[in-house]
Amino acid sequence: MGIETKGSEIKEDRMKKILITGGAGFIGSHVVRLFVNKYPEYQIFNLDKLTYAGNLRNIEDIESNQNYSFLKADISDRGKVEELFEIHKFDFVIHLAAESHVDRSIKNPLEFLNTNIVGTVNLLDACRNSWNHENGKHLFYHVSTDEVFGSLSDQGFFIESTPYDPQSPYSASKAGSDHFVRAYGNTYGLPFVISNCSNNYGPNQFPEKLIPLFINNIKNNRPLPVYGKGDNVRDWLYVVDHARAIDMIFHGSAHGKTYNIGGFNEWKNLDLIKVLCDLMDEKLGRSKGESQNLIEFVTDRSGHDFRYAIDASMIKKELGWEPSLQFEEGLSKTIDWYLSNDEWLKEVTSGEYLNYYKNHYGAEA
Ligand code: NAD
Ligand code: DAU
Repeated sequence: MGIETKGSEIKEDRMKKILITGGAGFIGSHVVRLFVNKYPEYQIFNLDKLTYAGNLRNIEDIESNQNYSFLKADISDRGKVEELFEIHKFDFVIHLAAESHVDRSIKNPLEFLNTNIVGTVNLLDACRNSWNHENGKHLFYHVSTDEVFGSLSDQGFFIESTPYDPQSPYSASKAGSDHFVRAYGNTYGLPFVISNCSNNYGPNQFPEKLIPLFINNIKNNRPLPVYGKGDNVRDWLYVVDHARAIDMIFHGSAHGKTYNIGGFNEWKNLDLIKVLCDLMDEKLGRSKGESQNLIEFVTDRSGHDFRYAIDASMIKKELGWEPSLQFEEGLSKTIDWYLSNDEWLKEVTSGEYLNYYKNHYGAEA
């Protein structure tokens, strides 16, 4: 029983218009796909600015579905956001649009403030102005990150009540947006939920993030730039499992709640990279150990958070969610996706990416 029952009990109420922001990006595209396919009675609107990280190819398999529409817009454009709410009268928002890469936030913090904080406040205001908060028919679901909690030593876990302690411009902007969401709940009675998730990996992730960047570099026999000594720790979750968690929270959570989502899957970067290299060797028919020779230790990320680790027992206990894939299985599926989507990879690693790579790593991509 559990969540599926809850979902169908409230289905009548939620057969409505859902705005998903950032649905052309990595996680957003998996969330849009899940909602469009699983809930044909819902109308799904995907709002995205199509920054370097947004790619309509990520969702081309569902773009002609009857219950799906795409809206190109920038959430930091207040007038545009208001106009879209007036036209479409969205009842629910699942908000994923964000600048999401820590290294870019170190170079250009203002862009993160504009999208992640101003953009979120624009959406909150549009909801506040167009919703009747008393009727229980609305929800602002804010998708956030475990990075708001700061950095752990080699002990302990983040729980839902861990105090915020963001350390990078990216995590500060996400923490700011989380605070605004809760403030709108407290001050204006805006119905909201927030989830804070650990590192995602899987198909469609832009190759600036560790796993797809290294898959692409291994494939092309390019150096693998490991920051510092490679001893930082991350907790990895397959992206489809994150989308499943968002579905369960959207349909099953009480308003005003926060859930932590994580993979119960901590890896030291260097250990993960070695597993990735070995899997790639197998798949590319290289001799074992060949790709590990590409590892290069480079200057550490400034202010590099040492460890993230999520205690996801609350969502498991209350909503019955847990990851469905073992890490090696997820990693293998991810590599297979990148190897069989060569055109996608080539397209996103051309143009602006080449400048980004050269500028950031001081080398050709
Ligand atoms: P992503 O960078 O792959 O995609 C972000 C999407 O937002 C892109 O499609 C981009 O075009 C769009 N976007 C950016 N600025 C916009 C703007 N001003 N207006 C409208 N659209 C805009 O990001 P992702 O990794 O898919 O992350 C999605 C969300 O999940 C973010 O809020 C992120 O903070 C959060 N999150 C990510 C992870 C992770 O490991 N990637 C983990 C936890 C939480
Ligand atoms: O924890 C959730 C967060 O995970 C999300 O909120 C962010 O949007 C997402 O980008 C991710 O942040 P990280 O900084 O942890 O991810 P990234 O893939 O950039 O880096 C993962 C680890 O790998 C980190 O310790 C830095 C290291 N790294 C990364 C890159 C890009 C390297 O050693 N070399 C690299 O070239």
